[in-house]
Amino acid sequence: MNLLHRPRRNRKSEAIRSMVAENSLSVNDFIFPMFVTGGTGKKEEIKSMPGISRFSLDTLLIELEEVVALGIKCICLFPNYPESKKDKYATESHQEGTLYLESLSAIKAKFPELAIMTDVAMDPYSSDGHDGIVEDGKILNDETVEVLCKMAVAQAKAGADIIGPSDMMDGRIEAIRAALDAEGFQEVSIMAYTAKYASAFYGPFRDALESAPKFGDKKTYQMNPANSKEALLEAELDINEGADMIMVKPAFSYLDVIKLLNDNFNIPVTAYNVSGEYAMIKAAANNGWIDGEKAMMEMLLSMKRAGASVILTYFAKEAAAVLNKN
Ligand code: PBG
Repeated sequence: MNLLHRPRRNRKSEAIRSMVAENSLSVNDFIFPMFVTGGTGKKEEIKSMPGISRFSLDTLLIELEEVVALGIKCICLFPNYPESKKDKYATESHQEGTLYLESLSAIKAKFPELAIMTDVAMDPYSSDGHDGIVEDGKILNDETVEVLCKMAVAQAKAGADIIGPSDMMDGRIEAIRAALDAEGFQEVSIMAYTAKYASAFYGPFRDALESAPKFGDKKTYQMNPANSKEALLEAELDINEGADMIMVKPAFSYLDVIKLLNDNFNIPVTAYNVSGEYAMIKAAANNGWIDGEKAMMEMLLSMKRAGASVILTYFAKEAAAVLNKN
């Protein structure tokens, strides 16, 4: 048959396939989320996230040598606090010398080149397990934003490069930007969790932090998985309020939303490849049901193809190792 067009010609060898590839992954794209807990000498693997652990600060600093050696340039730190440190107002979140802030400073001191992203939300410190202040079963917006501003400023003081509000309260980007600027932190960036959905895929993360809500769910502040126009609204607001980067979370079930935001806005879009997405691949691979390495690379590449510039992923170390050997 004489066919004028045979698309298969561009797939005939690895050399040609890689030459015409439209997208690729790079270690530069990754942010590695890590968990810090109190005490010393600890490395506690999270059951639902094989290969991911909570570290005490001393072991975290050792682990980071490996992370940095792999070429990873940014981490996102999350804290695990005991119930005894939690209260209604997440007071511990902006207490001087608290584990989280102390860890940020120690990491910055030892690895000045490494960019550190933080998490701004009340849940790791909240006795209610919610991202905001709870009153009569309701999450208060404006009162919560005041706490978030204190948290953001404390994190900037401790050495954060990128502040990551993951709470989904209205108006928090503008308020946090103003609070940071008022304290002289004009250079600290904000990565807004812009389209953060009320998702079942956060389960393993809540195990890691022991931060599951004590009642109800997060549907009055996190987005409805049914919606995408609403993501455009959230993005418009966050950008107008001063966000430097916007995020879609989770990533894998929301590739359309990543594309939508990337097509419509001109600041970088980040994909948060969340804990449940990681757990699914690990569970299937550990059962011998899929090739874990190939599935991981395909999942991450799909996020780039959808339009993500940055990928927050628990796979960062493993994917970096694969990319480095190629
Ligand atoms: C909470 C927060 C969550 C995650 C990051 N920050 C969980 C939640 O909203 O309940 C989830 C991350 C993951 O699942 O990997 N502020």
